Amino acid sequence: MKLRNWRVELQSARRAESPPQRPDETKAPTKLGLIMAPTPPVFEASAVPLRFLHSDVAFLKKTGRGSSFSRAHVLSFVVLLAVLFLQLFNPDVTEYKPAWSPNTELPDVLYPSPISPNTPIFSEPYPISRPAKMTLLDEARKVTEEFAYSAEDVNRGVKAFISQMGKGNYQTYCGDVMLNYAQTRGLYLAVDLGGTNFRVCSIQLHGNTTFSLTQSKVAIPRDLMIAKTSQELFSFLAKQIETFLQTHHNDHYTAHLERRKASSSTTTAEIFQLGFTFSFPVNQVGLNKGTLIRWSKGFDISDAIDQDVCQLLQTEIDALHLPVKVAALVNDTVGTLMARSYTSPGKTGTLLGAIFGTGTNGAYVEKLSKIRKLTSTSSSASAYDTSTGEMIVNTEWGSFDNTMTVLPNTPYDIALDAESVNPGVQMFEKRVSGMFLGEILRRVLLSLVKSSTAQLFSDVDSSTNDGHSTTTIAADSALYKQWGVDTSFLSICQADSSPGLRAIRQSLSKDLGVDAASTEDAEAVKLLVNAIGKRSARLSAVAIAAVVINTGNNVQKGASEDDVVDIGVDGSLVEYYPGFEDYIREALREVKDLGESGEKRIRIGIAKDGSGVGAALIALVAAKMEEGSGSGAGTESGAGVRKEDGADPKNYEPEGQDWFG
Ligand code: GLC
Repeated sequence: MKLRNWRVELQSARRAESPPQRPDETKAPTKLGLIMAPTPPVFEASAVPLRFLHSDVAFLKKTGRGSSFSRAHVLSFVVLLAVLFLQLFNPDVTEYKPAWSPNTELPDVLYPSPISPNTPIFSEPYPISRPAKMTLLDEARKVTEEFAYSAEDVNRGVKAFISQMGKGNYQTYCGDVMLNYAQTRGLYLAVDLGGTNFRVCSIQLHGNTTFSLTQSKVAIPRDLMIAKTSQELFSFLAKQIETFLQTHHNDHYTAHLERRKASSSTTTAEIFQLGFTFSFPVNQVGLNKGTLIRWSKGFDISDAIDQDVCQLLQTEIDALHLPVKVAALVNDTVGTLMARSYTSPGKTGTLLGAIFGTGTNGAYVEKLSKIRKLTSTSSSASAYDTSTGEMIVNTEWGSFDNTMTVLPNTPYDIALDAESVNPGVQMFEKRVSGMFLGEILRRVLLSLVKSSTAQLFSDVDSSTNDGHSTTTIAADSALYKQWGVDTSFLSICQADSSPGLRAIRQSLSKDLGVDAASTEDAEAVKLLVNAIGKRSARLSAVAIAAVVINTGNNVQKGASEDDVVDIGVDGSLVEYYPGFEDYIREALREVKDLGESGEKRIRIGIAKDGSGVGAALIALVAAKMEEGSGSGAGTESGAGVRKEDGADPKNYEPEGQDWFG
């Protein structure tokens, strides 16, 4: 019907020579109208010049609006077309400008003067809400992908770790000696120079696997870490020992001073034996003798390289006339292993002592036969006791894969390394340990702050922050300072699951000088923290798995309860970063040679203050050695000293350097 109508309509229009009557002027239907009744009349169209009719009018008919088509309509239509035509082709048409845009100054009527001049309703600039919400989180997610460390990566890492183990030399000084001191009693001193703090402690061993510990801790001033001379650092350390003795052992200390005044001689018994935990790579050449190979963890004092660090400390102790002898030099991982062995439950010995703190490293018990340097160099081999068949190896795994064959490498890692005091070394540590995680995060955050698309902390949506106020970054924010972000910030972020992530936002303000961050900002920060922390834990699993597999401990040895692989750990990351051990375990299960059953057999226990306790235990060995017994109190089976002319062949002390060279 409709098609026929159109045809009729056009025919009628063509025929029309004079204006037709308006429908309201003629009551009688036209011929065509009659023909086509009951369809609507189409005659009005015939009054329009043909050039407008053929298509346009037909269209109007189609939409059913042609019924009241008048000259006025046609005229408006023509005018409209003319305007459109002009707009389209006139080059002078100026760009459309809205009356108000985010950058326009608001008219007073919209933005009246504040009620009080000092309390504006909105701080400058006027806060706006833009639909950029997804952009920031999307950008953050994109960055997290750069930190992904897959199961395949983990397995590749373990393989490379095992093949690089022992390529360098080893560094340690004793074998089985410390593992048997459970019955020993006595009061010993220990100091621990870690990456962040210097601790002084005295340890009372009770002889029943327990001990009491008194300790003081002081942050190492950053300018001393990069002092001009090593004397500046070591005199500071000696001063801390003096303060500790005055505070906690004043009787002993003053008695010593008085005796000294009366006569110049002091007996060995009156002198504290001190174990020195020095957590940097050293070439240990004696029980209390070791030369510094290189600094790590941000220290850089060039005149200390190749110097005997025990002697450097003893010189400053003597300058203060303290009744203290630096009796043993210990790495914190060795101390942790010792302490865990002393206290760990069950009959199983501890395999590994590991630090996941400011730095990272591990020391483990290895078979002498597997220590290449000992087996290959006859002179070295004869210098060590082979009767126990075991030795503690300080791996210095912070330097694993310095040549970057398998380690992940983001632009942030690259820039961090390039701007560090020791580019190209400690590459594993720079991706794992606390000191560097904060710095990686800082660089990531800064890149998002600067990015034109992500707009972190840029007040995209003030409505989601507490005060509905503008997000600001303080000019002296830690974000702008190298090493400005501490691992504790990452731990806080990882732990916060509160609605609106309030703890993160508070910490952003307190620690990073970012005020009034939005919830979206906090969500982005949390995503990034998680990615960086998780990568660190999965890399840590690589080192643990490699040691377990390489020592054959991935294979179950019996069905007994004691068939566990005991690992002592210490350090701020493993202790305070929420879920760090869970992420390690997840990755351990993904290691082909461990799987779920292997992971289950691994017992990881915190050896709190292990490095201090371990150092004291080694000082004890030294004391026993000095007494000349070589097998003093308790059940110790020999002490860690080099075999000298005619000396007890059970005693040994290999010289060496770090495992990862
Ligand atoms: C660094 C040191 C290493 C120490 C570790 C943990 O890697 O080089 O000796 O054990 O930090 O503190």
